[in-house]
Amino acid sequence: MSHLPDIDALKEEISSFPVDSKENLEAFRLKYLSRKGRITELLAGIGKAAPEDRARLGKELNILKNLAVLRFDEASASLETSTGKKRAAHDDPTLTPPPLLNGSSHPLSQTMEEIKTIFYRLGFTIADGPELEDDFHNFTALNFPPEHPARDMQDTFFIRKEEDHPEKDLVLRTHTSPVQIRLMKNGKPPFRAIMPGRVYRNESITAKSYCLFHQVEGLYVDKKVSLADLKHTLITFARHLFGKQLKYRIRPSFFPFTEPSLEMDIWWETGNKPGQWMEILGAGMVHPNVLKAVDIDPEEWSGFAFGMGVERITMSRYEIDDIRLLYDNDIRFLTQFP
Ligand code: DAH
Repeated sequence: MSHLPDIDALKEEISSFPVDSKENLEAFRLKYLSRKGRITELLAGIGKAAPEDRARLGKELNILKNLAVLRFDEASASLETSTGKKRAAHDDPTLTPPPLLNGSSHPLSQTMEEIKTIFYRLGFTIADGPELEDDFHNFTALNFPPEHPARDMQDTFFIRKEEDHPEKDLVLRTHTSPVQIRLMKNGKPPFRAIMPGRVYRNESITAKSYCLFHQVEGLYVDKKVSLADLKHTLITFARHLFGKQLKYRIRPSFFPFTEPSLEMDIWWETGNKPGQWMEILGAGMVHPNVLKAVDIDPEEWSGFAFGMGVERITMSRYEIDDIRLLYDNDIRFLTQFP
């Protein structure tokens, strides 16, 4: 019979070996766990034990080894946290902590919130609609003729295009105006709401244009709504957003869904650049064909609508000269808008 190691005695030894310092821990490792350590040596010697003892011996030695590894790991972890290198100079609790980077809302969200607040005070509610639209809501109900260039692949992202059945087309909405249609179809006049949201255009990406941007649409339908009401609403809005000193102008324009149509420009001077007129929105009196498309009698009801670009307004307010900055999520840019 070969000589069997006294496992119990070894267990006792491993449990009581001092591991309270780096040096002791290293001695422990060398003695039991290293390549020439006791346990390694015993494991290597299993083959020399009597065949009937081998299985039991292997099992017991493995338990022993696990015990030693556990003791080693626990001791080294506790040595690291109490005295170890993790407590470097920058963990000194008496030092001033490094500044934390506070999150802040995106400049686009800030502008959007201000626009919403102004219209909320003017009595407008907020509505929204889907970004994936059908041909009816995005174009047809808004009085776009079949050959209108906006219906071209070059301007619109088509998700589904049926050459012979344009009414089945699905697009990423090119403006927020289709939400007007949804609002009017799903309810009864009067309506007074703004409709903020994301829109998409198939444009090449430059400092001035991006494939997606944000608009805020507005709609007011009631009895005897007039162009004077529209002008008053737009001017009040612009003065709230840009300040009382604001210089603006209102020009005639054209949109299929309004008649008459207009555009509003504001005079913008920044830094040392010469001032210039900048268009901020399109608007007009809701076209009778649009009211008819949603079963509202244009003899009884009238309304105005407007749509503004949130990126443009944000860029002018914060003097941002490249629209792509608004979409890069570069922390150096974003931290400038606390
Ligand atoms: N939908 C237009 C665009 O994307 C903006 C617009 C103009 C909206 C006039 C309106 C409006 O509601 O009346 O360019």
